[in-house]
Amino acid sequence: MQNIDYWIYNQSSYGLAELADNSISALVTDPPYGISFQNSYWDRDLPDKQIWTDSLRVLKSGGFGLVFSSIRLMHRLMVSLEDSGFLIKDVLFWAYLNGMPKSRDIALDIDKELGVESKVVGQYTYVQGYKKGGAEDYYAKEGKNKHEPTSKTALKYKGAGLGIKPAYEPIILIQKPLEKGLTVAKNIIKHQVGALNLEETRIPYEEGEGKVGHNPHPKGRVTANILRTEELNDGYDKFFLVPKVRQHAEDFNIHPTKKPTHLMSHLVKLVSFEGQTVLDPFMGSGSTGVACIENNRQFIGYELDKTYFDIAQKRLEIAKHQFVC
Ligand SMILES: C[S@@+](CC[C@H](N)C(=O)[O-])C[C@H]1O[C@@H](n2cnc3c(N)ncnc32)[C@H](O)[C@@H]1O
Repeated sequence: MQNIDYWIYNQSSYGLAELADNSISALVTDPPYGISFQNSYWDRDLPDKQIWTDSLRVLKSGGFGLVFSSIRLMHRLMVSLEDSGFLIKDVLFWAYLNGMPKSRDIALDIDKELGVESKVVGQYTYVQGYKKGGAEDYYAKEGKNKHEPTSKTALKYKGAGLGIKPAYEPIILIQKPLEKGLTVAKNIIKHQVGALNLEETRIPYEEGEGKVGHNPHPKGRVTANILRTEELNDGYDKFFLVPKVRQHAEDFNIHPTKKPTHLMSHLVKLVSFEGQTVLDPFMGSGSTGVACIENNRQFIGYELDKTYFDIAQKRLEIAKHQFVC
C-alpha cells in the first residue's frame, strides 16, 4: 500500500493551477448552494461554471464525481456541470425526517393587509421535538400570543403556507466521458477509473434476513440512490443509513454545513478505489478529506476561508495520526 497523504490549499480553487491535467481519480464536493444559508457570506451564489471546467481538466477520463446541491437550485448546478462537459449519471437522495418547512401563516398576513385584527387564541408553549432555541421554543420563552385569522378572505386561506417540509438533500453523480474510442474496460486499464466501486459500498443484509436474487452477494445488496438518516421500518430500510452530523461532535468544528464523515466515507468509496486521489475544491472543515484518510485514499482540498481551513487542517492531522501508520 502506498503512503496515504493529503495536500490542502488555503486559497480559491478556481483554476486548480497546482493540479496537472488528467491527474485526479474522483471529485467529491459540497459546494456553496447559493441560498445564503444562515447568512453565510460564501453561500450567496452557486459556483461559477469555471470550477467545473477546471475539475473536468484535472479529472482522468472516465472519472466520477459526486456534488452536493440544494433542492431549489440543483437544476442550475446540473446544467452548469453538463455545459462544462460532465455526463449526469444519477442523483442520490440523502433523505431525513427532521427538516423544517420554511413557511409562514399567510392567513394572518392577509388579515394584516386588510387592516383586520387577528384573534388571540392563547400563547405558544414549548413542543417536544422542536430544536432547543428553535422558533417554537423562542416564541414560548417570549410568551408570544398565538393568533387565528378573522377576515373572510383570511379564513378561506387558513393554514395555507409557502413551502412543504424538506426531506432530502440531492447529491449529483457525474462522470467525465471515457477517452474517445475506448471501452469501459480499456479506459480502466489505461486510466484506472471508469466504473463505480460497488464492492466496497454494498449494504450488508440484516441478521436473519433472506438473501436477494439468484446469486446473492456475500457482502450484501448493491447500494441505492437513496441514503437515509434514520430507519423508518417501512420496508425500505435496505438503504445506506447515516444520521446527520451532531453539531457539537467536535467542539472546535464550527462550520455551519459540515457533513458526517460516515456519509462522506460512503461517497468517497463509491467513486474511487484504494490508493486513488480524490479532489474537493470546496472542502470547508475537511469532511471529504477525513473520509479519504480513513479509507486509504489520497486527498487534495481547497478552502478559501482561513478559519475553516485551519479546522480542516486540524481534522486531517488527527485523522492521519489515527489511520495512517
Ligand atoms: C458547503 S461548505 C463545505 C462544507 C464541508 N462539506 C464540511 O463538511 O465542512 C462550502 C465551502 O466552500 C468554501 N468556498 C467557497 N468558495 C470557494 C472557492 N472559490 N474556493 C475554495 N473554497 C471556497 C466556503 O468557504 C465553504 O467553507
